[in-house]
Amino acid sequence: MGVKINTKHLAKFVKDFEFDAILPQVKQASDLLDSRKGPGNDFLGWIDLPVNYDKEEFARIKKAAKKIQSDSQVLIVIGIGGSYLGARAAVEAIKGTLYNSTCQNTPQIFYVGNSISPAYLNDVLKICEGKDISVNIISKSGTTTEPAVAFRIFRKLLEDKYGKDGAKQRIYATTDKARGTLKELSTEEGYETFVVPDDVGGRYSVLTAVGLLPIAAAGCDIDALMAGAAEAREQLAVCDENNDCCKYAAARNILYRKGKSVELMACYEPDYTMMNEWYKQLFGESEGKDQKGLMPTSVIFSTDLHSMGQFVQDGARIMFETVVDIKKPHSDLYIEKSAENFDGLNFLADKDMSYVNRKAMEGTILAHTDGGVPNIILEVDSLTEHDLGYLIYFYEKTCALSGYMLGVNPFDQPGVESYKKNMFALLGKPGYEAQKAELEAKLK
Ligand code: PA5
Repeated sequence: MGVKINTKHLAKFVKDFEFDAILPQVKQASDLLDSRKGPGNDFLGWIDLPVNYDKEEFARIKKAAKKIQSDSQVLIVIGIGGSYLGARAAVEAIKGTLYNSTCQNTPQIFYVGNSISPAYLNDVLKICEGKDISVNIISKSGTTTEPAVAFRIFRKLLEDKYGKDGAKQRIYATTDKARGTLKELSTEEGYETFVVPDDVGGRYSVLTAVGLLPIAAAGCDIDALMAGAAEAREQLAVCDENNDCCKYAAARNILYRKGKSVELMACYEPDYTMMNEWYKQLFGESEGKDQKGLMPTSVIFSTDLHSMGQFVQDGARIMFETVVDIKKPHSDLYIEKSAENFDGLNFLADKDMSYVNRKAMEGTILAHTDGGVPNIILEVDSLTEHDLGYLIYFYEKTCALSGYMLGVNPFDQPGVESYKKNMFALLGKPGYEAQKAELEAKLK
């Protein structure tokens, strides 16, 4: 079934004719995407990726994943932004947020190079002591500072531990097929390489080797993941009133025009935490430009009902909520009757915990809509590989349509450069001398 949008709790905020009125605009955005003539049209490789991918490389990814499983207790995944979030989101959605504690025949996975924190890196280095490790360095440009610094450290660690030849059997580089420092180094050193296709941007790259190698190394079925995405590609191809991703793009845009400029992605499964992070990058980098865009935010309920709940219920009315309703959790737990009923909770006895979680969700949706927060529900069968593949594609397509509806290029990220220029100048990178003095004066 994939993903279904349920708009019944939107009824008091959005009228049917508002959907009718906006549908031609969604269609126009969809036509622009299909024509491949819109802004950012050289980054549309993700559209056909679920069926049009390099099969030889796909087989190599599976082989490398098996090798990592057989020779490593730890896999270090080095990358940032689009070169990290998708892999972690998928692994934790499919295998659980406690994957590193529950994995048995697959390596623990630690993600580094996604910050510049020495404390975090030192902790990971400590965990690696005495363990067999492999490294997957992922960088499309091959020059991003955060992963480059982490790779310098882990490359040395591997070379010291296994020797140069041994290290090269354990380093996997995912990067541009021809250009960049990482590609050059990999060719020189003889690392096995995987490709980030030219026409797929970082945040749309989870279904390329960028995501697939770590996901496969964690023991996930990447055939099923791709099959789910392929099903979504087929089912969401035609934009009409039956297309749930067009409906979702329409609902987001209607609410945005009503002044709801924040989308709060809410899920009742902690395993969804990193999917929320991936969603934030996908939509934030795609829509947030030219002083426009919905601000993507996220919560895990019921956890965050005890922190953000007050604001959502009663704070500034700037948001709508999109609730990801996972119909079937990975596992369930039966709540038994207690003879003494010391905690007064026997009204929950003889029920599955998923039932209690569902009632929490239903009660919260009613409370929040009563409080003036429109709620969209995305119904997802499960977080299996197949359903997750479908969901990933569903989000990507909604995001592209939403960007075109806003009149922005959903495939570039010019704003990300500003901090980098300042950081390089302050660090004294050659070529940034003039800016350095100027910025230092501002910091005084
Ligand atoms: O979505 C994007 O393009 C970014 O988040 C990049 O993935 C991120 O900046 C990392 O870039 P690179 O893969 O070149 O190291």
